[in-house]
Amino acid sequence: MPRLLLAPMEGLVDAVMREALTRAAAYDWCVTEFVRVSNTVLPARVYTRVAPELLRGACTAAGVPVRVQLLGSDPGRMGACAATLAGLNPAGVDLNFGCPAPMVNRHGGGSILLDEPELLYRITGAVKDGVAGRVPLSAKMRLGVRDTHRAIEAAQALVAGGAELLVVHARTKEDGYRPPAHWPWIARIAEAVNVPVVGNGEIWNVADYQRCVAESGCQQLMLGRGAVADPFLAERIRAAAAGLEPHPAEVDWARLLPVIGDFWQGVLHKLEPHQAPGRIKQWLNLLRRTFPQAEHLHQRIRPLRQAAEVTDALQAAGAF
Ligand SMILES: Cc1cc2nc3c(=O)[nH]c(=O)nc-3n(C[C@H](O)[C@H](O)[C@H](O)COP(=O)(O)O)c2cc1C
Repeated sequence: MPRLLLAPMEGLVDAVMREALTRAAAYDWCVTEFVRVSNTVLPARVYTRVAPELLRGACTAAGVPVRVQLLGSDPGRMGACAATLAGLNPAGVDLNFGCPAPMVNRHGGGSILLDEPELLYRITGAVKDGVAGRVPLSAKMRLGVRDTHRAIEAAQALVAGGAELLVVHARTKEDGYRPPAHWPWIARIAEAVNVPVVGNGEIWNVADYQRCVAESGCQQLMLGRGAVADPFLAERIRAAAAGLEPHPAEVDWARLLPVIGDFWQGVLHKLEPHQAPGRIKQWLNLLRRTFPQAEHLHQRIRPLRQAAEVTDALQAAGAF
């Protein structure tokens, strides 16, 4: 059976979305959006804000374990932060060496560090010391900054520093999110390190999954935007791997509606009313790649500004 992880996605997958997506389909574990470590050692409340799951055994309500991701470049502060974080018993600590955002890279964090394997080694080593064996440590990388020539060196530095698992997003920073993802590179990295490697990038449907497995040789995959666009993607992948027929599409929409309803209630609980409509529009915008019914609902909700109007529209659609 494939092992499937839910990707960290800052601004898209927060605790409310993790709740929804892990209820729709099972994942082996998921990772929070990154917590940025800059000039200070962060207090515990920063982690519990990003990962309220830490207050409930570090699992989503559906029981999927949650790892918390750190992003930063100062080994000492990263290690100290990891020590606090590990004390909160997350399902693991994950390190971000993939973020391409200029704002983050300008401050020396994320994928820009892939050009500095020595620093990758020191950061991972300091975090490993901070975690002190209490929880597993993983790291998420891209293939490089501008090209792939240091990909293997970067992966080996992360493992030498103490990462016990690598997630490889098979694109460089320069590639951004442009297709394709270079899945054969996942196989090359897996051959060069002695820890499990999880493949990631551009898996939107079962056919992509099958091609990714064939090209990467990897049975462990992390799903990002594809899991948000089709919350049953993980389930479809597991069914295909077991040789089972998928559910008909109309049945899926009926199963998804109450999940959308609960998501909306969660958003209303978390955000100010004027911020809430943007979140459901963002999700529907991705869901319409998969579900024609989501296209219809998106058109209905897109002009609405008031949370109460959105609630009415969702109710009319049968979300609660
Ligand atoms: C909106 C958005 C936010 C992201 N935030 C993070 C993040 O916080 N940490 C991280 O490691 N990767 C982040 N990523 C990268 C994803 O985890 C994943 O590696 C990438 O989207 C490729 O997978 P996909 O093609 O399946 O979406 C983000 C991606 C997107 C689209």
